[in-house]
Formats: sequence, C-alpha cells, structure tokens
Amino acid sequence: MADKGGLEGIVVARSRLCSIDGQKGVLIYGGYDVGDLAEHSSYEETCFLILRGRLPRRDELDAFTSDLAAASPLSGETAAVIDMLASHAAPMEMLRTAVSADSFDDPDKDSNAEEANFRKATRLIAKMPTMVARYDRRRRELDPVEPDPGLGHAANFLYMLSGERPDQQAARTFDVALILHADHEMNASTFTARVIASTLSDMHSAITGAIGALKGPLHGGANEQVMHLLMDIGSDENIEQEIRGRLDRKERIMGFGHRVYKTYDPRAVILKRYSRTLAERSDEPHWFAMSEHIEKAVMEEKGLYPNVDFYSASTYHYLGIETGLFTPIFAMSRVVGWAAHVIEQHGDNRLIRPSSEYVGPALRPYQPIEQRTAPEAA
Ligand SMILES: CC(C)(COP(=O)(O)OP(=O)(O)OC[C@H]1O[C@@H](n2cnc3c(N)ncnc32)[C@H](O)[C@@H]1OP(=O)(O)O)[C@@H](O)C(=O)NCCC(=O)NCCS
Repeated sequence: MADKGGLEGIVVARSRLCSIDGQKGVLIYGGYDVGDLAEHSSYEETCFLILRGRLPRRDELDAFTSDLAAASPLSGETAAVIDMLASHAAPMEMLRTAVSADSFDDPDKDSNAEEANFRKATRLIAKMPTMVARYDRRRRELDPVEPDPGLGHAANFLYMLSGERPDQQAARTFDVALILHADHEMNASTFTARVIASTLSDMHSAITGAIGALKGPLHGGANEQVMHLLMDIGSDENIEQEIRGRLDRKERIMGFGHRVYKTYDPRAVILKRYSRTLAERSDEPHWFAMSEHIEKAVMEEKGLYPNVDFYSASTYHYLGIETGLFTPIFAMSRVVGWAAHVIEQHGDNRLIRPSSEYVGPALRPYQPIEQRTAPEAA
C-alpha cells in the first residue's frame, strides 16, 4: 500500500487496553466485546475495567462508584473559571480550559506515580460532567445544579443539566453512549495524550491536549456536524439530492467513514438501536427516519458506513441535549481511555519522537537583508 501519510497502519505503542478488528467491525476493551459491555455493564464498571484491566468485584465497584460521587463537585477555583467563561467561550474551549485549570489545586499535581495517576483519573472522570453541566446552566442564566451522590454517573449528568431526574430509559441510553465512547485504540486524541505523557508531563496536560485534538471535525467534532447536517437538510424528500450534491462537491458527509473500520462501526449499530427507540416515543421521529435515509444514500453513492458519531447525534438530541454539548460529552466519556493510556505510557515510557522526511530547499548561503531583492523561494 502506498503511504498516504497520517501514520496509517503504523504501530506506535503496545497496549493492553483496547483492540479493533476493522474488517469484522469488532471493538474490545480489555478482552470484553463492547456489545457485551453495552448490554450488561455500566459506565462506572467499564471505567474500572479500562483503568485496572479487569472487571471489579462488587465491593470494588461500590468503592469506585463512591469515589466518583465524592469527587464530582468542583473546587471553588475551577467553578469560578467556568463561570467566567460561560458567556463567551465555546463548549470545547471551556472544557479545555477548565480541565487545565483543575490541575492547580489537584492534591497529586506533582506526581506521575501510578496510584496518583489513578486518583487523578478518577477525579477527572468525576468532574468533567459537572464542568459541562455547570457551564451549560450558567450560559443559559440558570443556577448550577450540584451533583446528587445517589444517582449513577450517567443519570447525574442529565440531572445536573436539566435539574430533573431522568427516567430509566434516558439514563440507560446515556450510560450506554458513555460506555461506547470510553476508549478506541490509537485514535488521534489518545495518540496526543500518549505523546504528551511520553515527555513525562502530567495527566492534566495530557488530557487537556487530548481535548484539543478531539475538538476537530474529523474526530470528535463530527457528532455536532451530523446534527447540523440533519437540520440543514431539514426534510426527508431532499436527502438523495443533498447527499449527491455534497459528494459531487467533494464535501465530507460527517459521521461516515473511518480510518480503521471498513465495515459497520459496532458502536453505530448499538446507538442506532437506541436512537430508534427514543424516536418512537418522541414527537420528532423524523430525525431518526432521516438518519436512516441518509445512511442508505451515503452507502449507495459512496459505499461508506456510519461511524459512532452518526447515530449519537440523534440519540443526544432525543435526550434533550443541545448540539454544542455533543463533543464535550464525547470527551467526558473518552477521558477514561485517555487516562488509562497515560498510565500505560508512564508505566513503560520512552519519549515519542518520530522523524520527518525533509523536502525543503537544499543548503544555501545566508543573505544579508540589504541584498534581498525578490522574495526568496520558501
Ligand atoms: C474519519 C475520516 C477522517 C477517516 O479518513 P481517512 O482514513 O483519512 O480516509 P481518507 O480521508 O483517505 O478517505 C478515503 C476516501 O474516502 C472518502 N471519504 C472518507 N470519508 C468520507 C466522508 N465522510 N464523506 C465523503 N467521503 C469520504 C475520501 O474522500 C476518500 O475518497 P477518494 O479516495 O475518492 O478521494 C474520514 O472518513 C472522514 O473525514 N469522515 C467524516 C468525519 C467523521 O465522521 N469523523 C469521525 C470519525 S469517528
């Protein structure tokens, strides 16, 4: 295969965390199929698995769950940063800044020791939903809702966002969405986190950098673009024409295609099911129907399968979540994967420092400024 750049197919780390079979459409966390985890597990249990490499016993899960609940309120300093940003920062700008600011008063800030990193990971998993919900309520000029330690991780986020305790179906749907986004092998943001960790920089720096990488529309930012696509197209009868037009203009259809999956993304299969169920009880069933129709059109025109972002868009919309929060939600889930990769990198580190092939000008003499008449070739 000719090298198209983008490190395609290059192995950059040995990892016990996550594997993908892109031909068969299989995703595995620590030896468990993501479909089984979506069926039987919770986000809290999946976090334990990803961080510790095995499923917890009951007492371990209870202890981890209560550690998360205890860590979910924000420090006064981080809350103040979010309040200051709420009216003018975009959601991912806020999250990048709030996570960075949260390192200032982290009790383990000066340690990269494994147990310190586990504690920092737990705190970041716990606090990121509180950050996103606080920001969203502040920008809507509502008072923040403090986390309820009696609710699960997923339900708590929906509660802090809306001020109402979600029903069982909404809470479970969101829990499954968090499980499905929790880790994904050597994706761009995880690679970013590992590169930062490999300089022996700290957990918060690695997660802040990963948030920056996730923000782009070719990565985590795609889920928001999918909702914009649905809204731009607006109705079912325009779909074939719109999709054909966009592909003819060489535009990318967001939520389709993948570097690794050459078949259906297994996460999209599961989210499609949840989106369909939510559509059936919604007064806006057309978002799911349109999504299915777009899927068919993109497959027929370009042979591309939907990825995780495609059906997460309508799923989150049905849960009453504003489009601008879709990518922060991705980050809230993926933080466990990033943190586990940072711990793995710190545990067996060598500086990640690849090379580039030089294609610039040959060696040339330095010209004093007075002698420079025409602009030199770059
Ligand atoms: C994810 C993505 C960046 C992977 O890209 P990649 O591995 O670098 O693949 P390439 O960019 O080399 O694309 C290969 C071919 O498929 C096409 N393609 C890939 N994804 C496409 C999409 N979503 N819409 C239209 N065409 C697409 C490319 O134009 C290219 O076609 P060509 O060979 O005719 O030029 C790409 O599929 C994409 O941009 N998808 C949309 C954004 C998205 O949903 N991102 C979330 C990923 S989870």
